Amino acid sequence: MSADMPKDPSGKPMWYGRRRSHKLRAGRQTLLETLLPELMIADPASHEPVDFGPDFGPSADAPSRELRLEIGFGAGEHLSGEALANPEVDFIGCEPFVNGVAALLADIEQMDLKNIRLFDDDVRLLLDRLPAASVSRIYILFPDPWPKYKHNRRRIFQAETLTALARLARDDATLLFASDHMGYVAWALAAGLQHSEWRWTAETPDDWRLPPKDWVPTRYEAKALRKGDKPAYLTFKRIPREFASH
Ligand SMILES: C[S@@+](CC[C@H](N)C(=O)[O-])C[C@H]1O[C@@H](n2cnc3c(N)ncnc32)[C@H](O)[C@@H]1O
Repeated sequence: MSADMPKDPSGKPMWYGRRRSHKLRAGRQTLLETLLPELMIADPASHEPVDFGPDFGPSADAPSRELRLEIGFGAGEHLSGEALANPEVDFIGCEPFVNGVAALLADIEQMDLKNIRLFDDDVRLLLDRLPAASVSRIYILFPDPWPKYKHNRRRIFQAETLTALARLARDDATLLFASDHMGYVAWALAAGLQHSEWRWTAETPDDWRLPPKDWVPTRYEAKALRKGDKPAYLTFKRIPREFASH
């Protein structure tokens, strides 16, 4: 990862978000202790490359099996909705906010979802460990806007994340960014347009004013819509490696 994002003295990316809010109900606490360890895709404390094993994601036996990644899933409504609608697709969800992880675990159990794995920490501790060219769709939905100029560097959507995502994205993979914060939308668009491995796909205003088809709403999106705000939906494609300039 580049020098742009703030790091702690050990070189680990600095984390500024909330880890926890209200006390969890006993059932959700139990899910964190029992179900979460079964679903963890990797140990956040390790630097080892992630091995999906035979039953998850693309493998030697199933190289074209589709894998999607959601970064900052919040309470997981979008992730569980997508996983339910696409049982043939595998999903990795990253979210360091414990209450959000617990809410998703409750849905995974209740919906009996088998195609989700989790990483309960900062996604930047995972990206460089995922296999190259393994992910076909990435969602960054309503990320924390860090609106103050002096905090802009904390934004997750920036050049170094795009470079890390380009490595693990398959050729022509989709990267979907949504936000109701127009300052962040402009920032994300500029970062995507300046990046040599991603291209913005919009051809008409509706391509960014409206969500893509089969869209599963998110909690923050619903909140924005209730306030009368109009989110933007930016879709980028990973330029195939043979055409991408470096
Ligand atoms: C504003 S919330 C949006 C949640 C959800 N995507 C939605 O639209 O309802 C942003 C989420 O991103 C998570 N987040 C922030 N930085 C992250 C990072 N580096 N890695 C993974 N998740 C992150 C936060 O914990 C928070 O839950």
